[in-house]
Amino acid sequence: MTTNNNSKIAIVTGAYGAIGFAIAKGLVAKGYEVILAGRSERRLEEAVATIMVLYPNARVWYEVVDLSRKSSVQELANRWEGDLHVLVNNAATTPRERLMTSDGIEVQFATNVMGYFWMMHYMSKFMKDIDDARIVNVASYWAGDLNMYDLMFDIRNYNNDKAYRQSKQANRMLTVAFADKLKEDGIKVNACHPGDVNSKLSNNLGYGGYELPEKGAETPIWLASSVEAQSFSGKYFEDKNEKICQFSQNKEAIEKLYRFCSQIS
Ligand SMILES: NC(=O)c1ccc[n+]([C@@H]2O[C@H](COP(=O)([O-])OP(=O)(O)OC[C@H]3O[C@@H](n4cnc5c(N)ncnc54)[C@H](OP(=O)(O)O)[C@@H]3O)[C@@H](O)[C@H]2O)c1
Repeated sequence: MTTNNNSKIAIVTGAYGAIGFAIAKGLVAKGYEVILAGRSERRLEEAVATIMVLYPNARVWYEVVDLSRKSSVQELANRWEGDLHVLVNNAATTPRERLMTSDGIEVQFATNVMGYFWMMHYMSKFMKDIDDARIVNVASYWAGDLNMYDLMFDIRNYNNDKAYRQSKQANRMLTVAFADKLKEDGIKVNACHPGDVNSKLSNNLGYGGYELPEKGAETPIWLASSVEAQSFSGKYFEDKNEKICQFSQNKEAIEKLYRFCSQIS
């Protein structure tokens, strides 16, 4: 795809989901050219149409991509032309059964972890040396129990909450890894908890959610666009406040996870 180079360009994954749509809408409202990324073309078309009704002058497009498949992310990178200023990794899933992708990767690990990893890996080349390039990883405070030796629940009994918490810990660890690796290219990488929002994802985990999607989108949008957040990298935020991330200290574990992800085909 070719983008208009007069405005800043942002891509938001999971962009017709509850929080993703609110992030996309919020970035459009701030004047960004926004590309909605997701796997259902029909739902992407509807989301673009809804935004165009709200903001008739919006520059908003979509790209069909299945984030659980490396080849699909590679295809997106292959057809991308031009700069990318903001990447918001937001798409995630919480199936109640242990499912595998056609490439043999457990679905939560494929989507929630590798989807973020592949987007950073393949799309960051379009962000290199751009003034103020930012990656925002939508993670969660609900994170933990990452088992480096059983990342795909081959040994442990699968439980969607456990797999989800592990994936969100991985998002936070890989934020630190990519912040370090992309530093030379001037790309800032941060993670955040969005908010507790009623969605397909949270319902699958047995939660409702008491905050509006727009509230959940506030911290990701702030990290992606505000002057205050411009200099941060490798940090974790809740409600626009930096929090000490318990998963960011163990550099050896972070590097090990990064290496594991690099080797996944
Ligand atoms: N909701 C909360 O309370 C809460 C709290 C903390 C963190 N978060 C984080 O916020 C983010 C957004 O969650 P949400 O609550 O807005 O969930 P959601 O409404 O279920 O949205 C998730 C989005 O991800 C997409 N997606 C899933 N698998 C995909 C794939 N393989 N390829 C492309 N897109 C895919 C979904 O599309 P389909 O409909 O096609 O599957 C959907 O658009 C997630 O990263 C989540 O971990 C949410």
